[in-house]
Amino acid sequence: MSATRDVNVANYLKSFSFRENNNLSLLPTGETTVVENLFLQSCHIPVYINEFWTSKQRKASSIHEISYRACFKPQLPRFFINLLTEEGDLVYDPFSGRGTTVIEAGLLGRKVISNDINPLSKILSLPRFNVPSLDELRKRLAGIPIKESLKAEIDLSMFFHPRTEAEIVSLKDYLACRADNGTEDSLDRWIRMVATNRLTGHSPGFFSVYTLPPNQAVTPERQVKINAKRKQEPAYRDTRSIIFKKSNSLIKNLTASQVNNLRRALGEALFLTRDARNTPEIGEGSVQLTVTSPPFLNVVQYSRDNWLRCWFNSIDTQKVETLITMSRTLEEWSSVMGDVFKELFRITKKEGWVAFEVGEIKSGTIQLEEHVVPLGLKAGFACEGVIINLQEFTKTSNIWGINNNNSGTNTNRIVLFQKR
Ligand SMILES: C[S@@+](CC[C@H](N)C(=O)[O-])C[C@H]1O[C@@H](n2cnc3c(N)ncnc32)[C@H](O)[C@@H]1O
Repeated sequence: MSATRDVNVANYLKSFSFRENNNLSLLPTGETTVVENLFLQSCHIPVYINEFWTSKQRKASSIHEISYRACFKPQLPRFFINLLTEEGDLVYDPFSGRGTTVIEAGLLGRKVISNDINPLSKILSLPRFNVPSLDELRKRLAGIPIKESLKAEIDLSMFFHPRTEAEIVSLKDYLACRADNGTEDSLDRWIRMVATNRLTGHSPGFFSVYTLPPNQAVTPERQVKINAKRKQEPAYRDTRSIIFKKSNSLIKNLTASQVNNLRRALGEALFLTRDARNTPEIGEGSVQLTVTSPPFLNVVQYSRDNWLRCWFNSIDTQKVETLITMSRTLEEWSSVMGDVFKELFRITKKEGWVAFEVGEIKSGTIQLEEHVVPLGLKAGFACEGVIINLQEFTKTSNIWGINNNNSGTNTNRIVLFQKR
């Protein structure tokens, strides 16, 4: 795929062949795109269906491997970054989550702005722009004082062995103290990021006894039941060695130039913790490309999933829960997203782009693109089309038959807008 701003996007999408563009000679001959039509508000919107990116493609960088609810695969932003930006262009994600878009953009030598109303987003994404030396990390970890008598102010005995708990509370106190007295540095932020990710999970690579995956902490009551059912008790986990091991695996396949690109991007980056409708820090007409996946209609219970990560980082879960967009109806959702599009129009450069993922909702009975296209048009954008990425693409696929969870396939639907 060539990065050029002069590329004719419609022709590129129409004649796209996965095999040619990804240099994978072992794959079957690439099919070209199926193009269907959507008629909306007397506009004719092309719908491009193909296998534009896939898990068969070159593996994503290990630096992405931080779990976050509803995150997308790095291949998705990579496709749009390669196609629609050049080195040095500014790439933005208003609903950044674990930072997949901005980290991929950083790796590819672009400038970045990240925003998410959830404070955990910045905690999990910013530190990965400043990859530490493993030697320094080992020394820093060894120097963090552990008080073996420490206990959390809440009962965490169903998750952690008492010695593990003492280590976690010691680390929490150390990090809080460094942040409060202004001495927190990039190594501390890295350690906070990895520890936050390792708190609970389903293998000995996490601090806790077996529980649900790390982005879905269960309640203490539920964990007591899991322990009884599995006849398990929390065993001691060496938190420092787990943090070191995970750090090693996060950075294992980074090249020196990727590390430099990330560091350079951080120099000018912005990490905002705002409502996506109101981001005054971002200059008018400054963003070349936004790639984003918004919160969808389903009501995600933020506090249920994040209470332990928030406890570790002294974040008030209840407060965040009131700020996060959790629309109960399509009308409510559309009203919030309409304002997000107005803000995106303000900050997007002339000729710049917005790739907006629309999820599958109510088992495919609502085609969200039909609601998103009018919102973008109303804000002033032109709609280039809807792009449906279908893994295991065949010519018999058509947009109405595609379901995100259909027989193991993984589908993404993206509405692509341009400011003309
Ligand atoms: C589907 S997730 C995005 C995941 C992201 N693409 C990734 O790969 O990690 C949606 C994100 O929107 C954030 N969010 C919800 N309401 C928001 C709002 N009004 N303004 C900014 N962010 C919001 C949530 O905290 C969540 O991280």
